[in-house]
Amino acid sequence: MNAPRVFVQSYGCQMNKLDAEIALGVLEEAGYARVSDPAFADVVLIFTCSVRAHAEERVYSNAGKLKHLKRRRPDLVIGIMGCMAQREGKAILRRLPHVDFVCGTFDFPRVATLVEQARQRRGIVACGTERLPMPPRRLRTRPSRFQAYVAVMRGCDNFCSYCIVPYVRGREVSRQPAEVLEEVRRLVDDGVREVTLLGQNIDSYGKSFGRPHALADLLYELGKVAGLDRIRFITSHPRDISRPILEAMRDVPAVCEHLHMPAQSGSDRILALMNRGYTASRYREVVALAREVVPGIAIASDFIVGFPGESQEDFAMTAAMVREVRFQNCFVFKYSPRPGTRAAELPDDVPPEEKRRRNLALLAIQEEVSRRSHLEFIGRVVEVLVEGRSRRDPRRLSGRTRSNHIVVFEGETGSEACLVPVRIVSATPLTLVGERVLPGDEAPGGTPQVASR
Ligand code: 5AD
Ligand code: SF4
Repeated sequence: MNAPRVFVQSYGCQMNKLDAEIALGVLEEAGYARVSDPAFADVVLIFTCSVRAHAEERVYSNAGKLKHLKRRRPDLVIGIMGCMAQREGKAILRRLPHVDFVCGTFDFPRVATLVEQARQRRGIVACGTERLPMPPRRLRTRPSRFQAYVAVMRGCDNFCSYCIVPYVRGREVSRQPAEVLEEVRRLVDDGVREVTLLGQNIDSYGKSFGRPHALADLLYELGKVAGLDRIRFITSHPRDISRPILEAMRDVPAVCEHLHMPAQSGSDRILALMNRGYTASRYREVVALAREVVPGIAIASDFIVGFPGESQEDFAMTAAMVREVRFQNCFVFKYSPRPGTRAAELPDDVPPEEKRRRNLALLAIQEEVSRRSHLEFIGRVVEVLVEGRSRRDPRRLSGRTRSNHIVVFEGETGSEACLVPVRIVSATPLTLVGERVLPGDEAPGGTPQVASR
């Protein structure tokens, strides 16, 4: 008999992508084979995101399209997984009657059993809140041969007033360092050269087992894993990032000089309403500390525009922050009320067109910041981890610097997963464009020095 086939699609953040990978691993272990088209699948799983209403609407629309497939093949099993499944539970079955089961962020490790049960009896809802042991990581399932995500903690205790995460992913629980190390060693033995440690609030890694500053120690330990070239960690909180973490970033050669540390707003009034636990000037101090401890560090941020009550003055303070701080990158989101959160009780009073205007205005400021800072790269040689062909221009290769800048350059296939020196020759606000520096190439003034950041 042919192996049953599974198609997995994921929306949302890296944690959700990792959950999808883990669930797929469980099914592969149970004898399933992965396919890249739902039309050829016996089981379709959609890993959903709840962070904004738009993310949920997209799932409803895309999952809605599977209705035709289900009509033609009633034995197809469709499962809605992840954050939106956790939040909506059986309401999903009412809106999408062709869905066979719903499985939230806690129950996905038992996906194989759920699929089998759903074959017998449709309409299963598995949205418990008990943390199950994670299945051992199946190395072959990871999407990239040389890059991997590793969850070091799950859940979040912050309760930012706009955020659904604590409700759909529960309270913070960290994994033991030995377990993380073991997983990373296995990945590296299998060819991984870059790991990104994941946690919704990664700087408080260890709090749940009584060692609130354990992230720095973990970085030192991971730095000893031979063959691991690059270590990243996301996402940082300006209140919890500490000097020891920044020092580890400086002192452990493999830890990349890149921080994703969302500011969310530049207005103290809005930050207080968001329950972020810092002021705009404190955020600037943390940036200054990071830049003092880790020379050349790149800092990326997220901002929410149109939060309840955000006035023109509040927005002007956010715009000033983006202009001044000179982020490596900014992700800007229009505020979306999430039922059940504290902010959802406030009137969503910034009109949609004003949210859109602020969103575009902030992106335009960041574009100018990026354009200027990218020009400063011209002439420098940077270390690039080659990821593969550029999607935009398949004649070129694409990769990232340690600072997480995207670099494209002419090159032959075959250098994927390699660290190569590239001299930057031009730049756009999104990308650095370079030429590979070959052994023996002389830079003006001598042998090329690889600027590590
Ligand atoms: N509305 C808009 N953006 C949000 N984010 C989180 N919750 C909301 C919301 N309700 C943004 C934050 C966060 C990023 C992942 O998504 O900026 O850092
Ligand atoms: Fe990730 Fe948050 Fe979306 Fe869940 S709701 S998938 S945790 S971004």
